[in-house]
Amino acid sequence: MIVKSLDHLNKISKIISQKLEKGDYIFLIGEIGVGKTTLTRYLINNLQDQNGIKETEVPSPTFNLLYEYEIKDLKIMHYDLYRIKKAKELDHLGIFSENEKTVKIIEWPGLIKTPLNNKLEIHLEYGENDNERKIKIYGSNKWKDFENEI
Ligand SMILES: Nc1ncnc2c1ncn2[C@@H]1O[C@H](COP(=O)(O)OP(=O)(O)OP(=O)(O)O)[C@@H](O)[C@H]1O
Ligand SMILES: [Mg+2]
Repeated sequence: MIVKSLDHLNKISKIISQKLEKGDYIFLIGEIGVGKTTLTRYLINNLQDQNGIKETEVPSPTFNLLYEYEIKDLKIMHYDLYRIKKAKELDHLGIFSENEKTVKIIEWPGLIKTPLNNKLEIHLEYGENDNERKIKIYGSNKWKDFENEI
C-alpha cells in the first residue's frame, strides 16, 4: 500500500501499537533513510501515549545497537543491526531471549535466520514523492492477516 505522508504513517503505527504485546517481533526492512526509525518512533510514542506516559525521544540505535524503553509492564527493545556483519555477533544481544517479556523492534534484521513466532515484517520503499512510501506487510501467527487491518 501507499503511505502518503508522515501523518499517514503515524495513523498506521497507531493501529500496530494497539495490537502490540509481549512476545511480538517487528522487523523493519528497507533502504537507508526510508523511515524505519521514524516508524519505530511513532510506535513507541503512541504506546507511551496510550499508557498515559510522557513521550520520550526515540533516537536511532545505529551506534548503540540497542535502546530500551519501559512502558508500564512492557519492555520495548529497539535494535539497529546495520553494523553487524556476522550472524554470530547476534548471539549476545538478547534477540532470542526473554521473548515472552518483551517487544523487539529490529531495523536491518537481514542476518536473523531463526524462525520467530508473532513476527510482523514491514518492508518500506521510497515512493514517487518526497513524503510518500510504499509498505508491504507479512505477518506470522497473530499478525498473519494483519495486512487487511490497515
Ligand atoms: N512517509 C514517510 N515515512 C517515513 N519517513 C518519511 C516519510 N516522509 C518523509 N520521511 C522522512 O524520511 C526520513 C526517514 O529517516 P529514518 O531515520 O526514519 O530512516 P531509517 O530507515 O531508519 O534509516 P537508517 O537505515 O539510516 O536507519 C525522516 O527524515 C522522515 O521525516
Ligand atoms: Mg534507522
